[in-house]
Amino acid sequence: MSNETSEASRGVCPYCSAAFDTFDDLKAHVVAVHQTDPLPKPDGLIQLTVNGQAHELMVAPEWTLYQVIHDRLGLTGVKMFCDRGACGSCTVIIGGRPILSCMTLAIECDGKTIETAEGIAEAGHPLVESYIKHHTMQCGYCTPGFITTAKALLDKNPDPTVQETMEALGGNLCRCGTYPQHPVAVRQAARILKEDQSK
Ligand code: FES
Ligand code: FES
Repeated sequence: MSNETSEASRGVCPYCSAAFDTFDDLKAHVVAVHQTDPLPKPDGLIQLTVNGQAHELMVAPEWTLYQVIHDRLGLTGVKMFCDRGACGSCTVIIGGRPILSCMTLAIECDGKTIETAEGIAEAGHPLVESYIKHHTMQCGYCTPGFITTAKALLDKNPDPTVQETMEALGGNLCRCGTYPQHPVAVRQAARILKEDQSK
């Protein structure tokens, strides 16, 4: 039943309701008849900008954003610990906010701009060096999630207190117990960012 609905919706013009057997026929119709209107998209096609790179992907309705970023795009910095929104290891940034990608459906992210730990590292953000310098990791599995959450914090609050930092990172769990070092590393990164801006 759901397949029938899906096929039907692929073939219906959103501008004049004309029906077509295939999505390609529908596209050809829109190009020919509704030249100034945007092309319709097939069900399941989403566009994401991840770390500045545009992607167009077909996704199943039940796929999580984690599956798309980690398994389809190969960005393995996003980690899976709990798969139930309890640990923060799968955190990415969307619209300036830290988001748990294991709890987010990919289909809902169409058109979104996403930042992952890879993008933060490639941009040379001082958080990465700070985390290394202050030994803010042991096994390192939780680290990308912490850094991503910390980046979202610093984007919003460039000079967070220890308390503010701990509160912002409160949803990130570390089985190795690195908690005391995170405010140290985050505040060091904040100082470096401030110095860079005053140059
Ligand atoms: S894996 Fe997403 S919150 Fe734990
Ligand atoms: S460093 Fe091992 S889980 Fe955090």
